[in-house]
Amino acid sequence: MNLYETDELLGQYMAFHYGESYFGIGNYPARCAGICQELMAGREKRSALDLGCAVGRSTFELARVFEQVTGLDLSNSFIESANRMKTDGEMDYFLRDQGDIGTRVTARLADMNLTNAARKVQFAVADACNLEPEYTGYDLVFAGNLIDRLQDPRAFLESLSRILTDEGTLVISSPYTLLEEYTPKANWIGGFERNGVAVTILDGMKEVLAPHFELVQEPVDLPFVIRETRRKFQHTIAEVSAWRRKQA
Ligand SMILES: C[S@@+](CC[C@H](N)C(=O)[O-])C[C@H]1O[C@@H](n2cnc3c(N)ncnc32)[C@H](O)[C@@H]1O
Repeated sequence: MNLYETDELLGQYMAFHYGESYFGIGNYPARCAGICQELMAGREKRSALDLGCAVGRSTFELARVFEQVTGLDLSNSFIESANRMKTDGEMDYFLRDQGDIGTRVTARLADMNLTNAARKVQFAVADACNLEPEYTGYDLVFAGNLIDRLQDPRAFLESLSRILTDEGTLVISSPYTLLEEYTPKANWIGGFERNGVAVTILDGMKEVLAPHFELVQEPVDLPFVIRETRRKFQHTIAEVSAWRRKQA
């Protein structure tokens, strides 16, 4: 079963993207988009691709500054919800308190000043590891908390040079939560020792991306909180790395 198709995860991600902040930690998709926007200062901002966009908040946020933004995700129910936010500007979801008890909450783009952005986004179900050739020519690709959910992260990273323009910007955020149910150990690009030396996923990304990308700046930590129930929260610290595609 794909966890990202369940009502449980849909409620959690709607709240994560469009709901309240907890413990003083601000909205994660919006802060990721903010980092992307800073990296794009003075650069072409025609089109951006948000891979693993879930229910779409970072896609809408990127459309504050990009002319066109496409959000892609493997989950039908997440993309349905992102599309509902685009077309209706709002959507109800269930915010669980405990067991079957909770409240219906309405997420509204207008409350986030994202109504204009909605005209510039499109969403589709797609596998980030197997993108159709039409997905190319982007000034920015953002992959938020996606890389540690992929079956073959190396193949994904290798495909990115085709998708970005020359000098296009790649932003990858991840807490690097390696789980064999998503990524078989044989496909790990880091999180192990090689000849007695620890290889992190950042090291692995540097190796795989080196032929076509250079790191723009030192990666930064970006914490986030996902509310599971009224009394249970996940507090995670992602690392955000930014890369620029070398001229062909
Ligand atoms: C941990 S969530 C992160 C979602 C969102 N970017 C965020 O930061 O809130 C991972 C997302 O990647 C999606 N996903 C997993 N594998 C994928 C693939 N091969 N192609 C596209 N999306 C994928 C999942 O459906 C889920 O929405």
